[in-house]
Amino acid sequence: MNPLLSQLQPYPFERLRNLFEGVTPNPAYRPISLGIGEPKHATPQFIQDALAADLATGLSGYPPTAGTPALREACAGWLQRRYGVAVDAATQVIPVLGSREALFSLAQTVIDPTRAGATVVCPNPFYQIYEGAALLAGAQTHYVASDPARNFAPRWDMVADEVWARTQLVYVCSPGNPTGAVMPLEEWQLLFELSDRYGFVIASDECYSEIYFQGEPPLGGLQAAAALGRTDFRRLVMLTSLSKRSNVPGMRSGFVAGDAQVIKPFLLYRTYHGSAMSPVVAAASIAAWGDETHVEDNRRRYREKFARVTPMLETVMDVRLPDAAFYLWAGVPAAWKGSDTDFARELLAQYNVAVLPGSYLARDAGGANPGRGRVRMALVADTDECVEAAERIVHFIQSKA
Ligand SMILES: Cc1ncc(COP(=O)(O)O)c(C=O)c1O
Repeated sequence: MNPLLSQLQPYPFERLRNLFEGVTPNPAYRPISLGIGEPKHATPQFIQDALAADLATGLSGYPPTAGTPALREACAGWLQRRYGVAVDAATQVIPVLGSREALFSLAQTVIDPTRAGATVVCPNPFYQIYEGAALLAGAQTHYVASDPARNFAPRWDMVADEVWARTQLVYVCSPGNPTGAVMPLEEWQLLFELSDRYGFVIASDECYSEIYFQGEPPLGGLQAAAALGRTDFRRLVMLTSLSKRSNVPGMRSGFVAGDAQVIKPFLLYRTYHGSAMSPVVAAASIAAWGDETHVEDNRRRYREKFARVTPMLETVMDVRLPDAAFYLWAGVPAAWKGSDTDFARELLAQYNVAVLPGSYLARDAGGANPGRGRVRMALVADTDECVEAAERIVHFIQSKA
């Protein structure tokens, strides 16, 4: 077996299952899970219809790995409308089967494990796929802690030159999971300057970009590059998907766009990797990327939920409305002495609400785990259920005070 597999860590949800083993949730309450960050709103009918309409013809041939020109144009068109950036649909876009597999396969394409100390830089806390992608590509990881005092921005400026010198790939997650923070232009500028100096590729994971709570839509990586005159997007790719934007996580559809010099070898890798998008999914994806009405409606529903839930929780814990995404990243009150795992276990036992301990989403680095003392709450269920969960959490915290 591949010895690198033994370096993989258990996934946060597996750790959550273990944490909750032996806990009997209070049967007086129906279970509410804020633990797993999976969209739960219904898939729009027009996307289902587009999928169904293609069934008769779509399954009879092998799809091209690069996707059809129509699909790539639909992705490029969305980038133009959403971010005002122009990409060449033929050389700068590849459809992928959701951003997860693309985040993983991109590392296998980019990393040269024969170079000493091959390193992948990740935010901390972070989406665990970055870590597995780095390790299985034969690289080591370097974690950059988010700073709560700076809207959870990863402190890229704290990374030593010696680390940057061996870095081959940097994952950026903006809007961030779990913090919801959007990376501002100054941070992009810093990363671009470092990338120019040290030659690493930047992978910008933007799958939460359409769920935001302030006026301005989140800045995208390609948009930041274009604003700084980097219209060739050198050493930069963005990854996105329809999963959260259009409530189709089961469809597995997204795309990667950016530097043609990265996209070309990525396409070569993917030819062998074998992740070509089904034409049926492609047809539904073209329809989805071309419509914004359902995206606005989806965003409105999240905004309503966050507007109801956040003020309730603000009265009892350190939490505030995030820039974007669908999580609250809340500080555990002092009564739990910083133990996010005790908080989660007791909450389940007493009120039958599941939340994810923040320490499961982060790694110990520099003597600290930046997720410790926080919990992630995914507001994916419907508004009434989320409000009920918030009411229970308020009682839970007040009863301990
Ligand atoms: C930060 C982040 N990136 C990527 C993904 C993958 O999503 P998908 O593969 O559905 O695009 C997720 C899923 O939860 C995520 O939280």
